[in-house]
Order: sequence, then C-alpha cells, then structure tokens
Amino acid sequence: MAEIDSLAGLSSDELNAHWMPFTGNRQFKADPRLFVSAEGMHYTTADGRSVLDGFSGLWCSNLGHGRREIADAVAQQLTSLDYSPAFQFGHPLSFKLAKRLADMAPGDLNRIFFCGSGSEAADTALKIARAYWRANGRPEKIRLVGRAQGYHGVNFGGISVGGMVGNRKTFGPALDVDHLPHTLLPENRFSRGLPDHGGEAMAERLLDIIELQGAENIAAVMVEPFAGSAGVILPPKGYLKRLRELCDQHDILLIFDEVITGFGRTGSAFAAEEFGVLPDILTTAKGISNGAIPLGAVFAREGIYDTFMQGPEHIPELAHGYTYSAHPVACAAAMATLDIYESEKLFDRVREISPHFEEALHGLKDCPNVIDIRNYGLAGAIQLQPRDGEPGKRAMEVVLEAYKRGVLLRWTGDTIAVAPPFIIETAQIDQIAQTLREILQTVA
Ligand SMILES: Cc1ncc(COP(=O)(O)O)c(C=O)c1O
Repeated sequence: MAEIDSLAGLSSDELNAHWMPFTGNRQFKADPRLFVSAEGMHYTTADGRSVLDGFSGLWCSNLGHGRREIADAVAQQLTSLDYSPAFQFGHPLSFKLAKRLADMAPGDLNRIFFCGSGSEAADTALKIARAYWRANGRPEKIRLVGRAQGYHGVNFGGISVGGMVGNRKTFGPALDVDHLPHTLLPENRFSRGLPDHGGEAMAERLLDIIELQGAENIAAVMVEPFAGSAGVILPPKGYLKRLRELCDQHDILLIFDEVITGFGRTGSAFAAEEFGVLPDILTTAKGISNGAIPLGAVFAREGIYDTFMQGPEHIPELAHGYTYSAHPVACAAAMATLDIYESEKLFDRVREISPHFEEALHGLKDCPNVIDIRNYGLAGAIQLQPRDGEPGKRAMEVVLEAYKRGVLLRWTGDTIAVAPPFIIETAQIDQIAQTLREILQTVA
C-alpha cells in the first residue's frame, strides 16, 4: 500500500521557499493543506482525502474541476501558437473572444481590453476612466471613489479604491480616494437575496463626496455589485440604480467590478444584467476561464473606446497593456469555458438551484454565534460573532475544521463564505450545511 504523506514529499526547505499569498505562512507550513488533484466537485488532498469544493477554488472554478474540453483547448493552443506579442501584433482568437464577450454583455459594453487577473482588470479600469476624461477635454476629473469593504485586488489602484483595511494599512499612502460607506446595515440581517432597507439613502452618500470634492474633479465610482471578498455584502434594493442615476447626473463614470459576480454567479451572465444597471466599465477575471489559466477582461462602453480614437493613428491611444494581455492560451481556455457555460446552460442552473442553497444556508440561523446570513445566486455568507479579543479566529476554526471533515470553504474576518461550482447537486449543498451545523455546535 502506498504510504500516506500529507506533505506530498515536500522538504521543509521546499515549504519555506514559497512565500504564500494571503496565508499565515508559519501556521500553514506547520500543518500544510495540500491538494494534489481535482475532478468535478472534489479536490483530493496529499493524504488521499476527498474534499468537496464549496468555494469554486477561489470564486473561479465555476464549472468544477478537470474539464476535458478546457484541457484539450489549452493543449491544442500551446502546440499551435503558444505566444503572440501582445503589443502591435495580434492573433485571431483574441478578437473572436472579444466579440463573443461583447455579445454576452449588457448594453454597449462591447470593447474588451484583456489583462491577466482581477487586480490588473481593476487598475486597467481606473486608468481608462482617468484617461477617458483627459481625452474628453476634462483632465481635472481624476478623483476616484470606492466603497468601504470593497475588494478590487491588490495592485495600488485596487487597494486605493478598495476598502478592506487589512489590505491597505501596511503599504503606506496609496491614491487619494474617497469611500462610500459599506451597505451592511443591522436592520437587514438575515435578508434573503437583496435586503429591503436603506438602498437609496446609502447610494446618496455619494452626494456627500460630491459636495466635498466637486463632481468636476471626480472621474469614477468603482463598486462590486455585491462585495464578495468582504463576505457577500449585498446592495439593498434600489442602491445600484440610484448610484447610476447620481453618476449620470454628475458626469461620473460608474465601474462595476464583476470579477466575482461575472459569468453566472448571480444566475445571469453579469450582475449588471441581473440588477438592471448598466455601468460604463465592467471588470472580470476568474470565471472567464474557469480559473484554469489566468485571464482578466475589462469591458468598456463603445462611446468610451470611441473617445480614445483620436490623434495620430500610429500612436497607441491608451499607453497601457501587459505582456500577457490576450494571451492565446488564456483565450483558448476562455473560449472552451464559455462553450461549457452555454452548452450546459449553467447560468440557468444557478437560478434553479439557488433557492435550495438559500434555504440550506438560512437553516443555520439557530446555530450558536451566528449573527447574520446573506445570499445571492450561488454566493452565501454566514457571519459569526467575533470571539472577545480574537477577531477572525472563530470563523477560521470553523473553516479549518470543515476542511478536515471534507468541505472546502473560506473565511474572511468572522464570516464564512460559501460559493460552490455551478454543477453542485442539492445533496452536496446539504452536505455543506450539515457539516457547518455540526461544527458550529462545537466551536466555542
Ligand atoms: C471583486 C474582485 N476584484 C478583483 C479581484 C482580484 O482578482 P485577482 O486575485 O485575480 O487579482 C478579486 C479577487 O478575489 C475580486 O473578488
């Protein structure tokens, strides 16, 4: 019988060599949690256990794992055109993918700029917004507005507009940005779907910022349609519509970060469509290529692109781009991913299965220390009362225990987040809820 090795043969030198992102390195390396393979809804750990993926990897493997069609498309692309220079030259697949994405997107969000990640998409969007106003003859419109508890990746633009204090406070001054308040209101606790209270009033806090800074100085407001990383913080009914109205009234661009909400998580292709609010710029990554190959895409409205199309034709209209923008292998992975979303009608499936998901999560309301439960589509969060003097530890213990019991979840602060692949079965949703119930009864 093969020897079980929870370290997968790694030496301590090898473990120490990798400085892991967003991870307590010392805690992890003392007791590593290693996956060695994945298929469908499950990971297999180094010590041979099967773990149900309740988090789509990291909000990205929406189709589940080990999709043959994606692997084949990637292999085929690698052997036919492994790389093509991203600047001044092109390859046909990126144009086909761009057209396909444009056709999926609401309204005239039909000009697509490719990058390599959600963080790059965020910074790209912010730069486009500023450069747009300059191209429009209004160079003073450079200020950016984000929202408390927002997450837009980890680059300097993203952490400036973002509002998660832990991701900002150790890195010194970022951009000078104003923040709307987050939309987590006590009167909305245990709402199912979009909460009822406070929508318009919370959006109108933008007027305070406009009064302070002057709309003539503000380029854009950037928000996630619902905040994912901070623990599925939903916009109260009417919030996004009011934000759109105020941006229109004051000539401010509205940017939706759909890195999590894009590609079906809400039951529609994009949250913009689901909530009936059209942003000027929309950022995506993650589910665009099922997490198999890194890719990000920024969608701009046609008029924004057109504004840039001026000046000498040989000069790049936007001095921005990445070596891996529109990487052919990533484009191939995305094409295959979109094929599967379509052929298996997986956005419809999210819609069909999300009432069961909602029921299962809200069934945990009576468990000890649960102070709020939130959900939309296949995204959900269970918020726990922080333990005195040890914020974040209770949720961490729950998630680590769930991993031991064969379910992958994620914690952020004292919130446990659940975001399974769209192929999840109802029995597997029940397994997640039952595992959580048992653990919540015992974690003090
Ligand atoms: C809304 C949002 N924007 C941006 C990002 C950053 O994406 P990446 O980690 O690919 O840079 C994330 C990642 O979780 C996200 O949730």
